[in-house]
Amino acid sequence: MAEERSYSPGLEGVIAAETRISFLDTEQEEIVVRGYNLLELIRRVQYVDVVGLLLDERLPDAGRREELEQEMVNAQVPEIVYEILWRLPAQMHAMDRLRTAVSTLAGFDPEANSADPDSERRRAPRIIGQIAQIVANLHRIAQGDRPQHFESNRGFAENFLRTIVAREVTPAEIRAFEQSLIAYSEHELPNSTFAARVVASTLSDAYGALTAAVASLKGPLHGGANEAVIYLLLEARTADGLEALIRQKLARKERIMGFGHRVYMRRMDPRAQLLKETLHELIAAKGTGSELAAMCQRGEDVMRTEKGLYPNLDYYAAPVYYLLGIPIELYTPIFFAARSAGLLAHIIEQHRENRLYRPRVLYTGPRGLHV
Ligand code: SDX
Repeated sequence: MAEERSYSPGLEGVIAAETRISFLDTEQEEIVVRGYNLLELIRRVQYVDVVGLLLDERLPDAGRREELEQEMVNAQVPEIVYEILWRLPAQMHAMDRLRTAVSTLAGFDPEANSADPDSERRRAPRIIGQIAQIVANLHRIAQGDRPQHFESNRGFAENFLRTIVAREVTPAEIRAFEQSLIAYSEHELPNSTFAARVVASTLSDAYGALTAAVASLKGPLHGGANEAVIYLLLEARTADGLEALIRQKLARKERIMGFGHRVYMRRMDPRAQLLKETLHELIAAKGTGSELAAMCQRGEDVMRTEKGLYPNLDYYAAPVYYLLGIPIELYTPIFFAARSAGLLAHIIEQHRENRLYRPRVLYTGPRGLHV
């Protein structure tokens, strides 16, 4: 019997997995994560709660929450991972350095080759903590400095941000950073999560699947957009400058990073709206940055009127990270660190209920040739 075949470029509109993890309900305009609205999670809980929800399929009670946070904060990064990072060329892209480090972690996990979902769920909090500590030290190590370790008496988000910016951080800064981590934590089946599930579907291991996801997320059409947004804003310098720069780029048929989305199409990414509020709250708390917010608003207005396009979460994550003083090369690595919880949930789910991914092609090449 001829198999049923259909073709959608870029798999647009194709359902490629059955999942209990998350769903982008564009009708109800809700990002569902294990039954909760992601926007409510961003407003009401901490990142460690979302890690528990993603891995355990329910929000953690106090005991499980404490256990998760301690595992994530006290996760040890093998010294040799930092030694390898020291030896890499400092000008190597931060996501390429991160990709190398994630891959190296496999060498220090005796269960690395296990595709057993229970083993992976048990090890996930440690892997999430290791990735965060590697990301928090990537810039420092590229400068030739020694890594700074997380401290057991501080929360995960405070440790993560404080290590990145190498200074004490305020509650308002920690909250803004924590909201970005939750916003980035899980988002159905983007390219990087799909890449991880494709790799996991051969029963390859979590480190290989995570490494594939890092490579995918680096791309400027995907996670690399948040870094590209801040470079656009810095080049523009003012709202008028941004309007002129956008118009020039559009005239050259160039894409404006931070706008558009395969699923949200010509609607605002709900996470972008929330991170816009986060930006304004951070500006109020710090008493600086209002011109940055005004510039972002102008960019929104121009893209809406000229292209009917709206911001995605990267457009507002970038100015939040800039105001927090985060080195620009860490913007996308932070996205990956936050998304590692969602990625591991998908890898575990794929290993729990596996079907090898092996799509077909629409062949348009020649036939019947002979040597
Ligand atoms: C993320 O999938 C996810 O969930 C990803 C993510 C997550 O949480 O994991 O949400 C994170 O990756 C957000 C997206 C970050 N990327 C960017 O900001 C890069 C800029 N945006 C795009 O390149 C684009 O919007 C995509 C890649 C995000 C989506 O592209 P699609 O669905 O393939 O849309 P398309 O390329 O077919 O564009 C449709 C039209 C085209 O115009 P025409 O050729 O029909 O005239 O819209 C135009 C595009 O040129 N267009 C843009 C544009 N995005 C689309 N024009 C200018 N600037 C843009 N940003």
